[in-house]
Amino acid sequence: MAIEIRATGSAVPSRRLTNVDLATEVDTDDEWIRSHTGIGSRHIADDNTGCSDLALDASRAVLTAALKQEDCREKTLEEIALTLDMIILATATADYYGCPSTACIIQHKLGARNAGAVDISAGCSGFIYGLEMAAGLLGLNTSRKRILVIGAEVLSRFIDWNDRGTCILFGDGAGAVLLEKTGNPSTGSGKRGILRTILKADGAGADYLIIKKGGSRNKFKAGEIIKTPPHIEMNGRAVYNFAVKAITGIITNLLKEESLTIDEVRWIVPHQANARIVSAAAKRLGIPEDKFFLNIEEYANTSSASIPIALDELNRNGKLSRGDLIMTVGFGAGLTYGGNLIIY
Ligand code: COA
Repeated sequence: MAIEIRATGSAVPSRRLTNVDLATEVDTDDEWIRSHTGIGSRHIADDNTGCSDLALDASRAVLTAALKQEDCREKTLEEIALTLDMIILATATADYYGCPSTACIIQHKLGARNAGAVDISAGCSGFIYGLEMAAGLLGLNTSRKRILVIGAEVLSRFIDWNDRGTCILFGDGAGAVLLEKTGNPSTGSGKRGILRTILKADGAGADYLIIKKGGSRNKFKAGEIIKTPPHIEMNGRAVYNFAVKAITGIITNLLKEESLTIDEVRWIVPHQANARIVSAAAKRLGIPEDKFFLNIEEYANTSSASIPIALDELNRNGKLSRGDLIMTVGFGAGLTYGGNLIIY
């Protein structure tokens, strides 16, 4: 039995905000942003678009891609949506605080009436966590076959545009994969699917990347006027140092635990937070930088959506073939970090 990625999909808002555009409103410039982060632009959702809307578009894209495959028995989007056993949404920017889960909203709009639905909160590592949780759910219960794993964010809604240390970094978007349990082997020759995952956390760094308002730390006060809306607060230097260590550790350990060399890996798909973090990790490990797939220049940091958007871009551009060994690696609020080794 193998847990395989059957198809990928993504959805990114059409409004593109370049560094040059941003610099007309914020005290920054294109050269600083590019040299410190590798970011050239970000895509921003319009005021009426919530997390579930982007997630729904990515979900429809992934199911449409699955329908095009030769061995797909379902003919329509409605039919394939009914085959889903679970929807797992990784997000830090849900439609609503606490309840209902955004995954339930997606489940309804997608017509996935046979699927359970749950949101998970693991910061920018959310998609990596989601894949492993889905793999566990598929493995535990023989009747489950298909799970939709989505990473979706509308981070622009939680940005303090006066804070140049954070507002330059983030963008909106969604990516998704359809995971399917197949009869292929997960070990030995001809093995396929998710081979190994590492999930880690270091809650001592919880304050380094945080949206403080809302939640049970805040007492409800009737009639209270909230002057400063919830927004991302970050200790950039601390996150940077943590991230380089996290990435190098995860790559080293995933390879070691599966007795692989880096030459056997076709792509490392890192969380797209900062190209400098990736360069520093590559240098420390002696891995060529072109082993890492980066699209941060276009989309900036889309948190839990960044890895599935990158996977979909690789796939759509024909840079990913069946049988390729790929590695995801990421880090984020929590602090969390981790990675998956997958034979595509
Ligand atoms: N434009 C121009 N100048 C800026 C700026 C901006 N957007 N942001 C900060 N600066 C200035 C600072 O004011 C400071 O100026 P000073 O030396 O005169 O005081 C200088 O640039 C250096 O600031 P610093 O914060 O030390 O920069 P840095 O090299 O640490 O880079 C980050 C800042 C945010 C790019 C970097 O720390 C980072 O990427 N951290 C990780 C963040 C991350 O990935 N978060 C998401 C994790 S999922």
